[in-house]
Amino acid sequence: MELERKPAAFGDMRRWLDALRAEGELHEVKAEVDWNTELGTIVRMAQGPGTGPALLFSNIKDYNKPGSRGRRVFAGSMSNYRRMAMVFGLHPDTHPRELVKLARNIMAGTLPPKKVGTGPVKENIVTGKDVDLFEFPTPHWNRTDGGRYIATYAGCVTKNPDTNVMNVGVYRGMIGDKNHIPIYMYRAQHIGHHALAWQQKGAKEMPIAFVIGWEPTLDFCAGSPVPMGVCEYDVMGAIRGAPVELVKCESHDLYVPATAEIVIEGFLQFDPATHMEEGPFGEFTGYVAGERLPRPTVRVTTITHRNDPILRGTVEGALPGSFSENAVCSSIMRSAIAWNVLDRAGIPGVTDVWGPPVHATTNLLVQIKQTYRNQAKQVANAIWGSSASHVRYKHVTVVDDDIDIHDYAAVDWAIAYRVNAGENDIVIMPSTFGAGLDPSTRKRDRDIALFGSGKWNRLLIDATINLDYDPDPDFGGARFPPTVWPSPEDEQAVRARWKELGLDGKKRG
Ligand SMILES: Cc1cc2nc3c(=O)[nH]c(=O)nc-3n(C[C@H](O)[C@H](O)[C@H](O)COP(=O)(O)O)c2cc1C
Repeated sequence: MELERKPAAFGDMRRWLDALRAEGELHEVKAEVDWNTELGTIVRMAQGPGTGPALLFSNIKDYNKPGSRGRRVFAGSMSNYRRMAMVFGLHPDTHPRELVKLARNIMAGTLPPKKVGTGPVKENIVTGKDVDLFEFPTPHWNRTDGGRYIATYAGCVTKNPDTNVMNVGVYRGMIGDKNHIPIYMYRAQHIGHHALAWQQKGAKEMPIAFVIGWEPTLDFCAGSPVPMGVCEYDVMGAIRGAPVELVKCESHDLYVPATAEIVIEGFLQFDPATHMEEGPFGEFTGYVAGERLPRPTVRVTTITHRNDPILRGTVEGALPGSFSENAVCSSIMRSAIAWNVLDRAGIPGVTDVWGPPVHATTNLLVQIKQTYRNQAKQVANAIWGSSASHVRYKHVTVVDDDIDIHDYAAVDWAIAYRVNAGENDIVIMPSTFGAGLDPSTRKRDRDIALFGSGKWNRLLIDATINLDYDPDPDFGGARFPPTVWPSPEDEQAVRARWKELGLDGKKRG
């Protein structure tokens, strides 16, 4: 069935909240909540396995006084497939498999942004000595965090000094003091490429802006490995079906959405003497990670914000029973991106790709209609050769097209009986780049300041039927025996008698 998509340009985060409210997807917490640990604990406990509501906190301790610069915090809107479908302009009941297929197309689309003179984000402009990050109700999300993280789902804007193409990525940032934000970034991410380009030009710092709170396409795209050289604003435009309207920052010539809630402008300093301590933080792996170390730090020059701004934030980290926004988003966009990588590599017969939300696609499942021997190895090589695999796709499992990769039992069954570790079905690709936050990697190898990236030993599980086996005349020339499931004729005959047998309405296959 053709999906009916009506691209949704909400206009700003407030209209997105209205849309969520209208669908019964938003819960407003009006009781007083402490920004210190309590708020983050509520978000984590409420999100469930993709089942919890989006949350708007409107009564936050210490920030519920008249004159508070910021009073409200919004979290949780992307941790659910119904809401993800709304972002794409689809019916909320659309199956994740269809979301992945659609994401393949829309993430490859571009619609350039439009520059406008001004917008609501300029309603308040705070500069110089008046800048005080503590004026916003930034949660101390987890008791174990090293501080208050103001950039958790912020779109971090930088630009390539040679091409002027901007990049928008999500990189965690902690309040170091009233006007400094140390961040956690890898040299292998696009922000790292930009930093290198500025350094090679002799710059001591790089313009940067954090966009905190806009339409959900910002959340979706900024956290996605959109290819280097393609600006996320262009992809956001393609998804929402209208150009993103941008205004120029006060401190430099980066551009930010005109209707953003809060924009923090500044410069990322390169001199290690300026680094401030950052971390640890409750991370995407579901573990506390990224130990306290001096990290590259943003010198904040200006904050612009709307009247009564809403601080957008999120808890990172998925666990069984509690899926984060990043995890649910990743399961869609990182599956879509992996599928596009396989297509571009020219691998035939890919019929489905899925990375379940509980690990945010650290384990990737690929379903193929294999036509030649060892096709699964080509799949793994292509995935791991792509820059998109930097912090994902550690383990790749490939199955045949009779295995539903959205069905855990089906995949597990294929691994049980189509994998033979002595027949090269298990392949390790040692010492590749990878997430510096994964606790299964030794501490020394997680040092991203020393190595620029983490270290992953990657694994292919080839759970396809081995085409290197000889066709067996006993199985009609097939490599594997038939399963015990009845033949179509036998099944049909019994189905015809199902009611007569008194089995109608009972659970069955
Ligand atoms: C909520 C959230 C938090 C993230 N935190 C970080 C982070 O602290 N550091 C980092 O390098 N990537 C982080 N990521 C992943 C990057 O945003 C992602 O890899 C993205 O592709 C980076 O943009 P880029 O591809 O333009 O470099 C986070 C993603 C999300 C959604």
